[in-house]
Amino acid sequence: MPRIASIYIGICLFFLILHEFYAKVLNLKDIINILGIESSCDDTSIAVIQNQTLLSSIIASQDVHVKYGGVVPELASRAHQSNIIPVLHETLIKADIKLNDIDAIAYTRGPGLLGSLLVGTSFAKGLSIGIQKPLIEVNHLQGHVLSHFIAEKDENKEFPEFPHLCLLISGGHTQIIKVSSPYQFEILGTTIDDAAGEAFDKAAKVMGLEYPGGPVIDKLAQQGDAHKFKFAKPKIKGLNFSFSGLKTSFLYFIRDQIKVNPNFIQENINDLCASYQRTITEMLIEKMIMAVEQYNIQTITLGGGVSANSEIRKAFTALQNKGIKTFLPKLKFTTDNAAMIAIVGYYKYLNNDFSSLASPPLARFSI
Ligand code: KG4
Ligand code: ZN
Repeated sequence: MPRIASIYIGICLFFLILHEFYAKVLNLKDIINILGIESSCDDTSIAVIQNQTLLSSIIASQDVHVKYGGVVPELASRAHQSNIIPVLHETLIKADIKLNDIDAIAYTRGPGLLGSLLVGTSFAKGLSIGIQKPLIEVNHLQGHVLSHFIAEKDENKEFPEFPHLCLLISGGHTQIIKVSSPYQFEILGTTIDDAAGEAFDKAAKVMGLEYPGGPVIDKLAQQGDAHKFKFAKPKIKGLNFSFSGLKTSFLYFIRDQIKVNPNFIQENINDLCASYQRTITEMLIEKMIMAVEQYNIQTITLGGGVSANSEIRKAFTALQNKGIKTFLPKLKFTTDNAAMIAIVGYYKYLNNDFSSLASPPLARFSI
């Protein structure tokens, strides 16, 4: 009997050692904790994701830019430098996790403002050396696209299936992307000039509204008549977009109206916002319908800062009436955040896709 017991213990030990060996070599761990770092523009954010579940995400926004009517790169870099360590501390406390329990550090390599990216990149590299954990570089745009795959505690969430089409609308990008897996992205259409976010921000500036203009226009538009004013929509072939013509026609329209009535903007602000927002929404939705038909892919997602826009969200959801399955990101995952960087990091970790300490940040970085 004691002999059988020792054989049994021996076999158990053998399999335990074998499991540990493969777990080490193949990264086969049950629990994977990824620390995400995002600093591509004017938000300093750090998050911890355990497998696909978000444990905590802290964002320090920078109000310093409001009075300049746009992000001042030098001020953004300085603010990242002073914010990044307190943000890390708060994130770890909220996640109730120690740095030693982190399995890899995912950081935004680009695209974005070079000075801002440098702060996050250098910090991620220093931390990686300090805690001896691997680095994972992340494309910020992939973060927006994969933000739909972040789950929260006790959430029973449905994830979009593959392939799907993502309409990525932010301050710097407007793209329709075919997402075939967490690792395969294909740009089907893009803006040939301004991004949708820029179109919002520039029109807001013309009307004397605060930066960033998108959320302000969205708010004022809720009290306005979206059909009061008509703005010409450009005719761009295929799945590409153009917003600079719309912006210019808006500018000329306002200039002409002010000549007749100097109070034109103040007297019509809500209707102007609603009409302008409707025009952008129509331009985006028309192209999305075209993409669905052309590629025969019936699942679509929305991503990027502009996807917080209430009118765009409404129009996107209404596409369900055409038999299209639509996924909207939660509002907190629309603007820049590190949870979306950590989720890309998680997928790359599963793929053993680690990066070198020598990789410099990239201001331009295609998906
Ligand atoms: O993705 P994001 O946070 O930063 C970039 O990667 O660019 O997007 C910022 C953009 C800004 O242009 C801002 O005006 C726009 O998102 N935005 C909105 C709304 N909230 C943010 N645009 C329209 N409606 C909103 N509610
Ligand atoms: Zn972004």
